[in-house]
Amino acid sequence: MPDSNRPHHDFLAIPDFSTPELGALFQLAERMRSGAYTAKPLSGKTLAMIFMKASTRTRVSFEVGTYQLGGHALFLSPRDVQLGRGEPIADTARVLSRYVDGIMIRTFAHQDLDELARYADVPVINGLTDLLHPCQILADLLTIRQHLGTYEGKKIAWIGDGNNMANSWINAAYRLGFELALACPEGYEPADHLLQRAREVTTVTVTHDPREAIAGAHVVNTDVWTSMGQEDEQKKREKDFAGYTVDAAMMEHADRDAIFLHCLPAHRGEEVSADVIDGPQSRVWDEAENRLHIQKAIMAVLLGGEELV
Ligand code: CP
Ligand code: NVA
Repeated sequence: MPDSNRPHHDFLAIPDFSTPELGALFQLAERMRSGAYTAKPLSGKTLAMIFMKASTRTRVSFEVGTYQLGGHALFLSPRDVQLGRGEPIADTARVLSRYVDGIMIRTFAHQDLDELARYADVPVINGLTDLLHPCQILADLLTIRQHLGTYEGKKIAWIGDGNNMANSWINAAYRLGFELALACPEGYEPADHLLQRAREVTTVTVTHDPREAIAGAHVVNTDVWTSMGQEDEQKKREKDFAGYTVDAAMMEHADRDAIFLHCLPAHRGEEVSADVIDGPQSRVWDEAENRLHIQKAIMAVLLGGEELV
């Protein structure tokens, strides 16, 4: 078992960072984006990247980001490592910790991530589980800072599934205190324990009426109706999410200067219309780029000893 006094910590969920730490993390990511940050804190270090699910952005941004910080990244899919043939997560964690300086994992059950972190002696980063997708929401917040200056005092709307993205938005509202309005079809609500905790510090509403959630919103967010691992439910979900497409008519209810975000991959004609995602309010390409900058900041801190001040 790892020593509880180990000098690093993991990034499994947004509340792993304090509110001031998140502010400093965004500033560090912004220095990385502008080119002002030229240090190589991962020099001589290696990141293991375990992908039990597919990925374009997470895989490429972590691999490129590690390289840009002077380190090396290993892509490990279940086809390549014994984890895919049933080797226990705990054993994988203990063995990888003898070779690498950090582990990023994308997997299904959130408890598998917790178990990996429990047995690893090196920092563990959540690259998406069925419950949470924290790196993405930090990239989204960085995009809001880029285009709206701040998330403070803004109304953020979530239109769609109460999934890993929605749950991480709730965690962000818990830490940063902005207003969050979610619209989810009946039976697709986000995790209740996260909702209850966030509601102790800020306004988080859940409605079955997308127009109510989007009214006056400064940021409009959606995601696929069928997440990875739910492919068998595609047909049922298409029916259950009727009326949840973020299209131009829906966007009319948001603030006039609202921006549209989507973590991607997107299904045009399902959760979002082409004219919205490819239109003037969309910031999805900056959002995808910001994955690189925020993850570099996270790795510089967790693996590279960069201080958050
Ligand atoms: N948004 C996101 O995490 O994309 P990938 O699934 O391509 O990594
Ligand atoms: N909710 C989606 C996000 C993909 C980045 C999924 O889990 O598949």
